[in-house]
Amino acid sequence: MNVLVIGGGGREHAIIWKIAQSPKVDKIYCAPGNGGISKMASCVDIGITDIKGLISFARKKKIDLTIVGPELPLTLGIVDKFQENDLRIFGPTGKAAELEGSKAFAKGLMEKYNIPTAAYETFTDSDKAVAYVHAHEPPFVLKADGLAAGKGVIICQNRAQAFNGIEQILKDKAFGEAGAKLVIEDFLQGEEVSILAITDGEDMVILPPAQDHKAIFEGDEGPNTGGMGAYAPAPLADEKLMKHVEHSLLRPMLDGLKAEGRPYKGVLYAGLMITPAGPKVLEFNCRFGDPETQPLLALMESDLIELFEAVVDGNLSDYELKIAKGYAICVVMASGGYPGAYEKGKAIIGLDCNDDDTMIFHAGTAAKAKGIVTSGGRVLGITGTGKTLQQCMQKVYETVSKITFDGAYYRRDIGQKALHRLRK
Ligand SMILES: Nc1ncnc2c1ncn2[C@@H]1O[C@H](COP(=O)(O)OP(=O)(O)O)[C@@H](O)[C@H]1O
Ligand SMILES: [Mg+2]
Repeated sequence: MNVLVIGGGGREHAIIWKIAQSPKVDKIYCAPGNGGISKMASCVDIGITDIKGLISFARKKKIDLTIVGPELPLTLGIVDKFQENDLRIFGPTGKAAELEGSKAFAKGLMEKYNIPTAAYETFTDSDKAVAYVHAHEPPFVLKADGLAAGKGVIICQNRAQAFNGIEQILKDKAFGEAGAKLVIEDFLQGEEVSILAITDGEDMVILPPAQDHKAIFEGDEGPNTGGMGAYAPAPLADEKLMKHVEHSLLRPMLDGLKAEGRPYKGVLYAGLMITPAGPKVLEFNCRFGDPETQPLLALMESDLIELFEAVVDGNLSDYELKIAKGYAICVVMASGGYPGAYEKGKAIIGLDCNDDDTMIFHAGTAAKAKGIVTSGGRVLGITGTGKTLQQCMQKVYETVSKITFDGAYYRRDIGQKALHRLRK
């Protein structure tokens, strides 16, 4: 098979690393890819939203299957357009991907299908939003309705912050059209976990629970990032909780989408808060998470291409997913200054220091004549597996310590929350 992967982050590098192991795969292309991906796949300089360009490339290169990494092309309807051109593609249609593309839409569906989530209201009028804040008790969570690259959520501890956030989103249009609507929801207390199902619209397989680390600093302090590390399986979600999530959260959403005339194929990602009253959905995403995908695929024993094909062909009912025992963890190395301003073009040293159980997935890197240099905020995701969580943390951090670039920053506490829980 000829395969095209769309995207250029650590998630896409992990997907390509995994599908390259499939005996079914001949040639892998990636649009646009990155410095590390270019060692495993032919990178082509086509933007992720250039759907016409991607279709004509897929035709020219006789691509048998296209896999979409990021959410933006999915919400733009790339799957519909590929299908109209008789091209096989893994991911939800535009109408199904609206589950991620509009938080107001997603909240409405959760309400309709009784899926536990924070109480909320939707606003387009800032006076009404202000009145809501006056009438309720803080803290509040303000969410721009549309895609905002992970920056559209403001947690407000008091009313003043909420008024300020309402003004930013609805009046100043800080998130542009993505903020034409505003969702205000109750603040939920608890620990977060990501549960990813892969579904053909009827059946689903569920990956081990993963935990992301959004904040830039150790102890979950400081501003949010795209994600500074992840591990799986997260001991926070035991088997009983996983069953509950499947039957009371994922299944009703999948069936609900079908009932709405938006049948869903692809990755159905539930971002959950495990509250004292049980798991509640913070959001649904319509694709693999980054960096959760890195440890999840490191644990996957199944052939990922076979799984993607089962989804595309609607054959998931008798599919058996194989996951390795043990743990996997990914530690993200970022450019100094991220998630604020940072410099690019720093030479990276030590990129060949890993062993068989440790992968160095590239995110923001570029291949230059002088070697691999930094080209983004999140630069690398060092990912490893081990029998115990402790073992894989030790191994991954050892590899991290051998890699350097000017200004490199990483969190030293990825996995600690799980270790504490396991010790208890
Ligand atoms: N209701 C809530 N209560 C507490 N924290 C929340 C709530 N909703 C979101 N958050 C926090 O904000 C983060 C981002 O919110 P999310 O809905 O996942 O949007 P996005 O990923 O699109 O930015 C979450 O990972 C969580 O840490
Ligand atoms: Mg999120």
